[in-house]
Amino acid sequence: MIMADNTMTFTNNQNGEVYEYDILTATRGPSVVDIRSFFQDSGMFTYDPGFTSTASCTSKITFIDGEKGELRYRGIPIETLATQHSYMETCYLLLSGELPDKETLRDFDLEIRHRAFLHEGLRNLFNSFPDNAHPMATLAAAVTALSTFYDDHRMHQGEKDYQEMARRLISKIPTIAAFAYRHSLGIPFIQPDIDLSFTKNFLTMMRAYPGGKMHLYATGHEEIKEVEVRALDTIFTLHADHEQNASTTVVRGVASTGAHPYVAISSGISALWGRAHGGANESVIAQLELIGSVDKVEEFIEKAKDPNDDFRLMGFGHRVYKNFDPRAKILKALQDELREELNLDTELMVIARKIEEIALSDEYFISRNLYPNIDFYTGIILTALQIPKSMFTPIFVIGRTVGWITQWIEFKKDETSKIARPRQLYLGK
Ligand code: CMC
Repeated sequence: MIMADNTMTFTNNQNGEVYEYDILTATRGPSVVDIRSFFQDSGMFTYDPGFTSTASCTSKITFIDGEKGELRYRGIPIETLATQHSYMETCYLLLSGELPDKETLRDFDLEIRHRAFLHEGLRNLFNSFPDNAHPMATLAAAVTALSTFYDDHRMHQGEKDYQEMARRLISKIPTIAAFAYRHSLGIPFIQPDIDLSFTKNFLTMMRAYPGGKMHLYATGHEEIKEVEVRALDTIFTLHADHEQNASTTVVRGVASTGAHPYVAISSGISALWGRAHGGANESVIAQLELIGSVDKVEEFIEKAKDPNDDFRLMGFGHRVYKNFDPRAKILKALQDELREELNLDTELMVIARKIEEIALSDEYFISRNLYPNIDFYTGIILTALQIPKSMFTPIFVIGRTVGWITQWIEFKKDETSKIARPRQLYLGK
């Protein structure tokens, strides 16, 4: 039960009526005013486009302090998870609330490996799309299609079923994403390899030749380096959850209607695709390519500042972080650490550094609290991992799946959950 420990009074200055509401105290961050009976009491709605001041649920999963640049999953700082734990441990943490011990992690990891293959019937779906289909569109369609193979999941009620479904989705989405990519190139699919870890398996499904072997050079087969696996694993961890962001709000909204859970996740994928959200990582690299050379950077910064030009600097700004994005800080440090090993000193990186340098000292960006966000840094690392731009947002999806499903489960288990049904201020005829 949520405890109220004080109240807030609203006065309607039109008629002098006074209403009193409970303040519900948060364990971290801002408390909330419980206005659930506001309409019933006053006959009026509250108005908050974009939900800048509205909490839509209670949650025990992820906490963000935007002023301090703090992010925690289940109470653990993101810096600890990104540097001392694997993505598999992070998935277990989000789903169960605790980090796994060695044996639990081994069993969880094995289960994820065993569930990675797709029903043969689903493979046919990929052939329905044109060769140049964007992998995000194929991914969303294939996850919706997955619901037809697991129709019984619509009725699932208990913890055991929820956890099984979560493991199934976490495991299969990388396979779907890799198949979507390979279909977009018209090249044969590579089946998941049970001997490989989650992240190495994904890189293999992306890169391997038929038979599962890597590119052959005169010196022998290319090997996926440990440093590459570590970099991508960290990227997955940094994307794993982000409390009530746009796509998670969509997932909870679809959950509230009672639709099949896979359709809720597919809706989250569609919401993530937009360039104001997860699609920004693809747009950052596209923008760096458009700028093309360091001497053009100032010109594009001026465009971003011009109120009459809708050009925005991709990878800058965030609704919640107003000082820095802690995920961006971790990735910048990783970028510096991997510069030599991953051969990161490309022309794009030089342009990116120049943008960062100018924007961080420019009054326009400083006064609006616009700092580089996670998407500003992922593209450079993913490019070095031989991952094409069109797969950047699918990589975000792979990382975020656990967050969406954990939030979906929390919604289902919360007895106060209701169908999402906002009101409006009608201004028409
Ligand atoms: N470049 C130039 N100006 C910007 C930018 C930008 N990237 N972002 C915001 N502004 C300006 C905006 O024009 C406005 O200026 P003014 O007050 O003069 O009208 C002011 O800053 C506030 O912007 P806003 O759109 O009201 O802020 P918001 O909180 O609604 O939007 C955002 C947040 C992330 C959608 C926005 O900053 C943006 O479009 N950024 C670029 C896209 C991007 O990098 N998205 C990834 C977000 S992080 C990954 C994720 O979690 O999805």
